[in-house]
Amino acid sequence: SLGKHMSSTMKARFPSDLFALLKLSGSTAKELGYTAFIVGGSVRDLIQGEANLDIDIVIEGDGIKFAKELGRKIRAKVTSHKRFGTAVIITDLLKFDVATARTEYYESPAALPHIEMSSIKKDLYRRDFTINTLAIELTPDKFGQLIDFFGAQRDIKEKTIRILHNLSFIEDPTRAFRAIRFSERFGFKISKHTLNLIRTAVKINLFEKLSGTRLYDELNLLFIETVPLNSLKRLSDMDLLKFIHPRITLTKPLEDLYESIQEAFSWFTLLFIEEKLNKAHLFLMALLEGLDEDERGQALQRLSVPPRARGEILDSIVQSSVLKYKMRNATDKSTYHLLMPLQLPTILYTMAKTGNKDQKKAISLYLTKLRHITPELMGKDLKEMGYSPGPMFKNILTSILDARLDGKVRSREEEVQFVEKRFRKQ
Ligand code: CTP
Repeated sequence: SLGKHMSSTMKARFPSDLFALLKLSGSTAKELGYTAFIVGGSVRDLIQGEANLDIDIVIEGDGIKFAKELGRKIRAKVTSHKRFGTAVIITDLLKFDVATARTEYYESPAALPHIEMSSIKKDLYRRDFTINTLAIELTPDKFGQLIDFFGAQRDIKEKTIRILHNLSFIEDPTRAFRAIRFSERFGFKISKHTLNLIRTAVKINLFEKLSGTRLYDELNLLFIETVPLNSLKRLSDMDLLKFIHPRITLTKPLEDLYESIQEAFSWFTLLFIEEKLNKAHLFLMALLEGLDEDERGQALQRLSVPPRARGEILDSIVQSSVLKYKMRNATDKSTYHLLMPLQLPTILYTMAKTGNKDQKKAISLYLTKLRHITPELMGKDLKEMGYSPGPMFKNILTSILDARLDGKVRSREEEVQFVEKRFRKQ
């Protein structure tokens, strides 16, 4: 299954510095008596015509020794993890992950009596899906040779996610979630056999053993990079939702909520590109919406959600329900004071959840306009106007803010007039 040369494709797709570094990797490995390969995602994407610059290198030999030697040559920083036989080379331009060829996904070479050098084929065989098993050899006289032991090119052509062997999900159940993620990302189908193995894994409760952190991480990745409603449907079809909590099921209201969150999220990120907002958390909130308080706690516990995220998720679910009532007949001023103390995710979740058009409008007005309103006058201005500093300053500034929200003052001059009319100087 050796063949195709990727040298010119790499030259065309990769920045020239990266290309040169790959050549240097091949010769450096050779000098040490090793063989270097690019593996995984970047090769898979290269075959599909995409340039993925997250380069993973696997060394037949001592990966750390190789990384240090390469780092020395290009004067780059190298950090290594002895226990795993891995290293990272960081330059101004790129990041190179280097690993020592391994035979098992969780095996750490140093845990063995002596570091066992294993071949690239075994290293690739322990991976999740065929599409992730491509490698490109970097050895000078074989530079660019594509290595495809497990039918990766065929599966990319046939747009199929396929495991390599029947124990794949037993080795690592998170692969079921990864299967959905890759399937959604590339528009590939999951092979029938692979689907059957996932069903079997569900039947024998393999996912119960999965640690909360790993399950939580996978869910986050899944919701971040896909259209979450589609992923939710896939999770439901494969009966995987019950491993988050047995009472979570796909209902019409949940589907609708996912759609409104998607809408709210797209609206927000389009308008405020530079503001960070955790997309996955919004959809996790929705997932727990139909549960009671105890059950929500159980689900968050199951996922080992870190305290901050846990607070944000729980708070958003509760606050969004409370706000529905509090925001009845809200004015700009009351909307401001209701939303100001809340976290952005809570506000956006509320916006998605409310079925009331006026409330949606009020929240969008808050996010686009109201939240940025502040008095133009500051403490020092008040002092110059003859007011003596003290607790009264806060009152004055709040009054100006409210007057602005009510549209009663619109400029600095009007603020000055407003203050002088309302507040006596001592
Ligand atoms: N891998 C695996 N089982 C997992 C996670 C990862 O076998 N549970 C393997 C995959 O084959 C993958 C490699 O480890 O090629 C690196 O994983 P990751 O960085 O998550 O995936 P990439 O393929 O690089 O995908 P992405 O494009 O998302 O970075």
